Amino acid sequence: MSAAQTQSRSVLAGIADDPLLEISGLVVETGPARRPIELLRSIELAIPKGARVGVVGESGSGKSMTASAILGVLPNGVRARAGTIRFDGRDLMTLPEREMRRIRGGEISLVSQNAVASLNPLMTVGAQIAKVCREHTGVSKQEAWTRTVELLDALGIPEPDVRARSYPHHFSGGMAQRVAIAMALICSPQLVIADEPTTGLDATIQAQVLEVIDGSVKASGAALLLISHDLAVIRAMCDIVAVVYAGSLLEYGPADEVLNRPLSPYTQGLIRCMDPPEGEIAFIPGRIPEPGTLGAGCPFAERCDRATDACRAQQPALRQLRPDHWVSCHHE
Ligand SMILES: Nc1ncnc2c1ncn2[C@@H]1O[C@H](COP(=O)(O)OP(=O)(O)O)[C@@H](O)[C@H]1O
Ligand SMILES: [Mg+2]
Repeated sequence: MSAAQTQSRSVLAGIADDPLLEISGLVVETGPARRPIELLRSIELAIPKGARVGVVGESGSGKSMTASAILGVLPNGVRARAGTIRFDGRDLMTLPEREMRRIRGGEISLVSQNAVASLNPLMTVGAQIAKVCREHTGVSKQEAWTRTVELLDALGIPEPDVRARSYPHHFSGGMAQRVAIAMALICSPQLVIADEPTTGLDATIQAQVLEVIDGSVKASGAALLLISHDLAVIRAMCDIVAVVYAGSLLEYGPADEVLNRPLSPYTQGLIRCMDPPEGEIAFIPGRIPEPGTLGAGCPFAERCDRATDACRAQQPALRQLRPDHWVSCHHE
């Protein structure tokens, strides 16, 4: 491996011999170039092949922005300033848009929160799914349609050949989310990114949709990046957990380690909120800082009951403290 390649390895290098996706030192900013506002300050992430990695953190932490950076679809006025996103041997940040278009929907696909909004209201759902299939695989129209109906069937949509011919507005929220999952899976991607895929659905439907994601990812062998502000969802689905806060990765490790023996005070707070002691309503006092208001210290220092002058002065480096378990905290 050359020196340049060594430098681009994530701090998390070693988490897997040959990770499918590896983000290193990702900085994403907005605003004028002379006075940029950092939205992602230091994101590291590794997704081993076939793994399920959960990204958790309060709203505004940078979860969706990280997904957008991976897919190469940052919003207007938002740009990546530093870092690498290595996917299957390529750096996505330097890939021409033509290549990225092939990867998006083909090798990496997205299931977003609002499935109905992500579907084209003027096309039948079957035609939309079959179109994605044809664009990325070049199979015949008929073969694409057959695969579409089979997949809808596998995802638990009743009368799939009839439903494939109907329009998105005829689908309930839960059924529309299955369609979005079908669209994400039709090309057998290596990585499925699901960004809050069940937020906004009824609790009973949520469980069904998670089950569909669980089963279909398992069947296809794809890796899953599951983004959620809900730790219970992550706990149910993932084998690795990444905790992000205000644009930085604070903790990363095996799910049972991170959720049962958390090292970061922020993760500890999130877990207390999920499962508060009897008769208590738990919350983390204060709120996530606005982008651009952070100094050089730990982003969580302002809300952390263990914060010291050192925490306020310098952001702690990400360090491996237990096997495969990393944390950014001066106290650990
Ligand atoms: N288009 C945009 N332009 C500028 N800032 C944005 C834009 N979209 C999101 N942000 C900001 O980026 C930060 C991260 O947002 P996001 O990734 O959506 O958080 P999360 O998904 O964790 O809730 C937030 O502070 C948010 O306000
Ligand atoms: Mg989001």
